[in-house]
Amino acid sequence: MSSTTAKRTALIVGASRGIGASLARELASRGYDLGLLARNQEQLNQLATELRAAHGITVKVASLDVCKEGNVAPVMNDMMHAFGTVDLVIVNSGVTGVRKAGDGNIAEDRRIIETNLLGAIAVIDVAMAQFKQQGHGHLVGISSVSASFAIPGSGAYSASKAALTNYLEALRMEVAKRKIDVTIVHPGFVNTDIAPGMEKYPFVATPEKVAREIVNGIEKKKKNMVVPRFPWSLIMPVLHLIPDSIKSRVI
Ligand SMILES: NC(=O)c1ccc[n+]([C@@H]2O[C@H](COP(=O)([O-])OP(=O)(O)OC[C@H]3O[C@@H](n4cnc5c(N)ncnc54)[C@H](OP(=O)(O)O)[C@@H]3O)[C@@H](O)[C@H]2O)c1
Repeated sequence: MSSTTAKRTALIVGASRGIGASLARELASRGYDLGLLARNQEQLNQLATELRAAHGITVKVASLDVCKEGNVAPVMNDMMHAFGTVDLVIVNSGVTGVRKAGDGNIAEDRRIIETNLLGAIAVIDVAMAQFKQQGHGHLVGISSVSASFAIPGSGAYSASKAALTNYLEALRMEVAKRKIDVTIVHPGFVNTDIAPGMEKYPFVATPEKVAREIVNGIEKKKKNMVVPRFPWSLIMPVLHLIPDSIKSRVI
């Protein structure tokens, strides 16, 4: 970044590992100052130390559980006020889980929907208040291809991501007349610790590759992204033509 370019600041919620940590590394390499949030403060501190040493940027960290609704606004506001202006907020926090309908374990589905949907909405709400007050901002939501490609045994996960995509589409129209951008990202399978055996899923990508594509799309202010672009941008338009029996065998 040239010395005449204004410093850009990004907050990543769900930055402690996986895609979120890779997004932090990618943004740091492009000169962004960063606010990193997640529950695991030790992992955040390690990442912050690495990024400050490698890129000489400002990195602030804060422990945040997006399911503790009363904490989301105070924790995020503290960080945003410390930066003054925040250009980009990435809502990346998410969990998954596998269960069979009928096993009585509704609590597992509730945990997933509370984190991926209600937790994300709580973060989006605080980001929007800040963006409206400062007069600009860019909100990025990390959904999933499972918003349109439901995963058998992970109905709550697929439903949470379909609802998040829908929520973000409504938000984008709501703020269309302001200088606020909304990017919805649909990753395919990415080799992280979100679930065991991710490396065996079809077309699995590294978090580094996915993060690079996401940040390229953010800088181009893309509205919707499927990452990695190949092969998912070819698969998604014809998904409805693939019979359920083949889809569930592939997954
Ligand atoms: N991996 C894939 O194949 C894939 C595909 C499509 C979409 N995605 C989406 O991409 C995002 C990142 O996933 P990932 O694969 O990188 O998973 P991951 O490695 O398990 O990372 C998940 C991140 O979310 C944070 N998080 C989870 N629950 C949280 C909570 N209650 N409050 C705050 N932060 C929380 C975690 O931090 P703490 O545990 O420290 O809180 C961690 O930083 C998720 O939204 C996921 O649904 C992943």
